[in-house]
Amino acid sequence: MIQLIKRYTFFVAAIFFSQLSSAQKKAPIKPENKDVFIKSLIGKMTLEEKVGQLTLFTSDMSVTGPVMRDSYKADLQSGKCGNIFNAYTPEYTMKLQKLAMESRLKIPLLFGYDVIHGHKTIFPIPLGESCAWDTLLSEQTAGIAATEAAADGLHWTYSPMVDISRDPRWGRVAEGSGEDPYIGSLIARAKVKGYQENIGSNSSVLACVKHFALYGAPIAGRDYNTVDMGYQSMYNVYFPPYKAAIDAGARSVMASFNEINGIPSTANKWLMNDVLRKDWGFKGFIVTDYTGINEMVHHGNVADEYEGGIAAINAGIDMDMQGAVYYTYLKKALDEKKVNMEQIDLAVYRILEAKYDLGLFSNPYKFCSTERAKTQIMNPSQLAKALEAGQKSIVLLKNQNNILPLKKTGKYALIGPYIKDKRDLIGNWSAAGDWTKAVSLYEALNSKIGSSAQLIYAQGANTVSDTTLIKKMQIQAFITPRSDGDLLQEALIAASQAEVIILALGETEGMTGEAASRSNLRIPANQIKLMEALSNLNKPIVLVLSNGRPLDLSWENENMNAILETWFLGTQSGNAISSVLLGEYNPQGRLTMSFPRSVGQVPIFYSAKNTGRPYEENQKYTSKYLDIPNTPLFPFGYGLSYSQFSYSNLSIPKKAFKTGEKIELSLTVSNSGKIKGIETVQFYVRDNVGSSTRPVKELKRFVKLELNPGESKNVVFTISSDDLKYYNYELQHVFEPGEFTLFVGKNSSENESVSIHIGE
Ligand code: NOJ
Repeated sequence: MIQLIKRYTFFVAAIFFSQLSSAQKKAPIKPENKDVFIKSLIGKMTLEEKVGQLTLFTSDMSVTGPVMRDSYKADLQSGKCGNIFNAYTPEYTMKLQKLAMESRLKIPLLFGYDVIHGHKTIFPIPLGESCAWDTLLSEQTAGIAATEAAADGLHWTYSPMVDISRDPRWGRVAEGSGEDPYIGSLIARAKVKGYQENIGSNSSVLACVKHFALYGAPIAGRDYNTVDMGYQSMYNVYFPPYKAAIDAGARSVMASFNEINGIPSTANKWLMNDVLRKDWGFKGFIVTDYTGINEMVHHGNVADEYEGGIAAINAGIDMDMQGAVYYTYLKKALDEKKVNMEQIDLAVYRILEAKYDLGLFSNPYKFCSTERAKTQIMNPSQLAKALEAGQKSIVLLKNQNNILPLKKTGKYALIGPYIKDKRDLIGNWSAAGDWTKAVSLYEALNSKIGSSAQLIYAQGANTVSDTTLIKKMQIQAFITPRSDGDLLQEALIAASQAEVIILALGETEGMTGEAASRSNLRIPANQIKLMEALSNLNKPIVLVLSNGRPLDLSWENENMNAILETWFLGTQSGNAISSVLLGEYNPQGRLTMSFPRSVGQVPIFYSAKNTGRPYEENQKYTSKYLDIPNTPLFPFGYGLSYSQFSYSNLSIPKKAFKTGEKIELSLTVSNSGKIKGIETVQFYVRDNVGSSTRPVKELKRFVKLELNPGESKNVVFTISSDDLKYYNYELQHVFEPGEFTLFVGKNSSENESVSIHIGE
């Protein structure tokens, strides 16, 4: 094998050097000293070739937005385009790379792609995986995604998406890690590490942190909408995950579509130069989002694309994704002295550096190995990790009378469009994932209990039957729509024969992700009808939900016996869900976004501020709704287990601490249930009085404990005043002495607390 790799390396290196012009053959460029090599290369480049390095075009393989250039292949040969996205497989990337090798300076192409939650082995959507509260898992799944992507010709993933979001109307909450900056930062760091672990080897890819910044806070949850945010929320809540990703060494950043204080990120000098580069020390390159420069004309901060290009490059945006603005206008802008060559050279340098570090100058075909693609994609260990990730992501929301886990015998009606569906289960942004390889719930239950139990299937409803919605989502119908009336009748017959109904409902994958905001947070109306009709039968119903955002489950919570939130779990969906239903796996997932009681509460999040008139039930003039409580239906951090955990002995050695002193809070957690389980013990803090108002609670630590039945473990949480710093009104990062309340518990609502004083 090693022999083979060596021979291959020699072979491609031979091709590379044989393709150099005769002048270069005399003095071949030896990429030994990076800085000398890159600067000397830049010295040889024409302006057109430089602009080529700042240009990123989509191939025609898998397009995700408006197409600007059909003739991109000619641009590769002439060096006018140096980067491609939406192209993968060793064969195809090799073919395109060969075109670049025909260009004068033979600068290798960089291949990027949206590898968001796996490349071929698809893991749970990021929001789902974040519910595992397991940073090692986050890193491992990113590592596998990188290995597979790199074995499939790719160098660069447009991930992690670390936008904090508190608005489930926004379809892209599915791509992020939820509402909380602490857990969001841990996951951001883990993902970057997983993708980039070994840059320069052929199993790591460049990460791209997105969408910088604040993209998760569009007004009214409508995708691409304006963001309007104060600096304290920016610095205390929304910035930390981006910063954590940069600190972890992320090599690239994607500018967000939205504006920040009137200037779109794509032209925002303060954001890109002052915050990202100067304050955070970011050294990599910045790419626009898809046609981000062109879109500034619609934002209205520039008159035309020419002005947009000038604004973007002067704001430090290095690469233009798909907009062809740098491609078309940079020369003119330079001639008219609107931009300078230093700025262009700096951007070129950053991009060439990434290519250099990937090892592409030594071997441009390094990632195009059909051999690796055969063994390093969807192999058994990768599939096993997908099963683990799926299991850990599931959140048990309700389990009345311990109806779950189910016996392996009995009569079960398997009803709902998500019983047999596979396409939706791998979720939105499932990249190159092949949904036909996903395991459905039907397949998994049949293989596990098909011979011991009676399984009666009925589809029950279409995933969605609202034709306007179908048109807007531009989805393909993966299950041919049938009459909802007929489907319902079949379901009622199936249900009448069963002891328990397993009802699999939810959203389609196209209802989540980009350009998929919703104003209604319930499951589609036709599925609700099915659910209501089945609930009238008064048989126990276990509701299995596949969806990509927190939903309004108020009715379901009243009327269903058990509710299992399974998100979109990826390739191993059916195996993961069935293992929880049948008790082979004890659920341990905890929500990373609050579930509202109704869409009217949105945005809703645990880490809110108190207001001057906090809620009091019998006081009219307090902050509340007339029709529903303020609290969410299921709070951040919530999730049930088949075990029962109890907390005791909360103690702290003293009540007053000095600034900088270690503060240790200890408690005992016990499993009083009958089976082994994992509890996620959560530690929150409230800064009772600040020079600026502070949230009522902020997550500061958590620990996952595995406990056998009857077992107890002691937990110690340690923090110091450094963990309690925040950005004050003047945006200074300060610790302010005073009273703090420390909370521990099983979620953000159910906890015990102690008060302490910290400071001189
Ligand atoms: C637009 C999306 O906002 C971004 O997340 C994605 O990486 C690009 N399109 C490329 O597909």
